[in-house]
Amino acid sequence: MSSYNILLLGSGGRENALAWKMRQSKLCKELFIAPGNPGTAQLGSNLNISITDFERIKDACIEYKIDILFPGGEDSLVAGIYDFFMNDPQLQHIIVAGPSKEGAQLEGSKAFSKKFMERHNIPTAAYREFTEDNFEDGITYLQQHSLPIVLKADGLAAGKGVVIAQSHQEAVDAFTTMIKEAQFGDASKKVVVEQFLTGVELSVFAFTDGKNYVLLPEAKDYKRIGEGDTGLNTGGMGAISPVPFAQGDFMNKVVERIVTPTINGLASENIIYNGIVFFGLINVDGDPFVIEYNCRMGDPETEVVMPRLENDLVEMIIKMGEGKLNEITIQHDKRAACTVMLVSEGYPGSYPKGKVMGGFDKAHGSILFHAGTASKDGEIITNGGRVLAITSYGNTIQDALASSYHNAAIIEYAGKYYRRDIGYEFK
Ligand code: AMP
Ligand code: GLY
Repeated sequence: MSSYNILLLGSGGRENALAWKMRQSKLCKELFIAPGNPGTAQLGSNLNISITDFERIKDACIEYKIDILFPGGEDSLVAGIYDFFMNDPQLQHIIVAGPSKEGAQLEGSKAFSKKFMERHNIPTAAYREFTEDNFEDGITYLQQHSLPIVLKADGLAAGKGVVIAQSHQEAVDAFTTMIKEAQFGDASKKVVVEQFLTGVELSVFAFTDGKNYVLLPEAKDYKRIGEGDTGLNTGGMGAISPVPFAQGDFMNKVVERIVTPTINGLASENIIYNGIVFFGLINVDGDPFVIEYNCRMGDPETEVVMPRLENDLVEMIIKMGEGKLNEITIQHDKRAACTVMLVSEGYPGSYPKGKVMGGFDKAHGSILFHAGTASKDGEIITNGGRVLAITSYGNTIQDALASSYHNAAIIEYAGKYYRRDIGYEFK
């Protein structure tokens, strides 16, 4: 069987976990990661290229004879990297594991995704959208809305574009700042106002070739900085898989009401979509609703999903490229997996960088996925808010967590912080 050169875009814990999984495939010849991190450097060759510098990505693809491009995050997809590749005769033969620019709008525009769900009767919170043009209607709407009120900047806002207002005044203030003061630039020129849903969230991932799809293991992430789900939203402080309630009747509803109509809806609208559809769901009294779509894997969900996926990821990507994902049957590792994210003190606000890290050689029984780290003078230093994802297997979620927490205590750097209650609902 032939083997493939792969270029993976990104530099977080998600990309370290994807690189770890790709490296295990016999089909993977050379693995490049742009820009990568010290964790990915142990699995392949890091290239010092920005994920949105399409011209330099093109040059690297030609120089290294890349067969597969895997964008880890949303930025390059929303900016149209798929279309850039398909419109270039020198790049057209490359399998791009990600949607077209139009497909990436499922994540890139909240208003687009809401209208899409409406057209396909996919359960989601009731909503209205507002711009400068109907600003006054928006204020009236907010004043009559039941509390709490969810406001979302339409475009990408690095996870900061959602406000859950507990009072009408707070809602009006947030709405005004988003639209009149362009708090998130173009991203908040349009605002989606929606009903607040109460329930437990989970992340479901479909991998699709546009026609067929397979479901990866599901996961639950812990977004808030503080224990007991308190404080500011972060990129994610930890994750578990499997999610105990994600089975039987509930998962049948997820598939019938959400996943299948989404994939069929994309196909029926001729939206080119090859890659991951990430469903951010909420379980409202046994019924699933979509909170958001993303067009890529989750971080830190990937750090538990990849360890529990027994299939060869590179083979899956090739089958996707051939439109033959129906030939893949997903196999789950029966064990549970968890990941605990070590972060820098101050995150998700401002935080220091450059703190020397230690303890790597003493940490056993977990997989250490680098997130925000760098190498300097032969040492590993902190280089981001989320620093290291400590993933472990266990017969139960609690067993897996015990291993991760053991190693979380062993890794050292100044200002280390982590949540000690990942998986708390399932004790
Ligand atoms: P999003 O960026 O759309 O995922 O929103 C960020 C977070 O805000 C979600 O993970 C939820 O915890 C929360 N959220 C968003 N929309 C709603 C909603 N309609 N009801 C309740 N919580 C929500
Ligand atoms: N962990 C949530 C996300 O990746 O968007």
